[in-house]
Amino acid sequence: MSDAADPLAQIRTHGAVPRHVAIIMDGNGRWARERMLPRPLGHRSGMKAVRAVVEAALEAGVEVLSLFAFSQENWQRPVTEVSALMSLLEEYIAREAAELERRGVRVCFLGELDRLGPGQRNAVDAVMSRTACCDRLRLNLFVSYGSRAEMVLAVRGIAEDAAAGRLAPEEVGEDLISQRMFTAGCPDPDLLIRTSGEQRISNFLLWQLAYTEIFISPVLWPDFGRKELFDAILDYQRRERRFGRVQA
Ligand code: FPP
Repeated sequence: MSDAADPLAQIRTHGAVPRHVAIIMDGNGRWARERMLPRPLGHRSGMKAVRAVVEAALEAGVEVLSLFAFSQENWQRPVTEVSALMSLLEEYIAREAAELERRGVRVCFLGELDRLGPGQRNAVDAVMSRTACCDRLRLNLFVSYGSRAEMVLAVRGIAEDAAAGRLAPEEVGEDLISQRMFTAGCPDPDLLIRTSGEQRISNFLLWQLAYTEIFISPVLWPDFGRKELFDAILDYQRRERRFGRVQA
């Protein structure tokens, strides 16, 4: 295949690959509705897209892939949809854990995990410890996650440490706050992708996205795959990131 036809070869020659790609996976419901299928089948197809995108991220050499799988607000969806999503989560872990480990993917679930049922919680804990030593790609799966709640937890921890004399107010800076987030140890996302054409952040990584490049894809999540990820990365590579400064 010529370089022009192979998006991976283009990515490799175009410039730096984003170290951290974050994705708001949106459009499963619309994908199902277009096919007159129940919404859980849209989520099931969305699970297959997760597999394809993890593969593609490994191929491209992305270091951290963050996927917004279930927000705190999603608990308010109909019980049948919530339980379908929770079952899918368990199924995903059961099906993929061995392969993820073999491919060197460290799986981290981030969010208020105490709200998960015992079955999901055990599965989540098991895959996190099983892959803890993997270091080719870090896959952050955000479940029961809300960014404002994450900030509240971080600020509360800092306030407790200050009140107990473990931390002086002047020690509180951007680095310390980053270390108190669920994403501690990860670089901030370079690229945020939202699928299905929606142009919202939806309470995802509000602290971490300060200088992230945003790419809105019209594609519904179940149809998002290798080509779509590579197109987003190529678009990112054409941008000039200034971080609020002017060009030298
Ligand atoms: C948003 O689409 C998507 C979700 C709320 C769930 C995302 C879940 C998956 C991709 C599958 C499971 C993931 C893993 C990691 C096992 P929506 O339902 O809001 O779609 P709509 O806006 O078209 O209704």
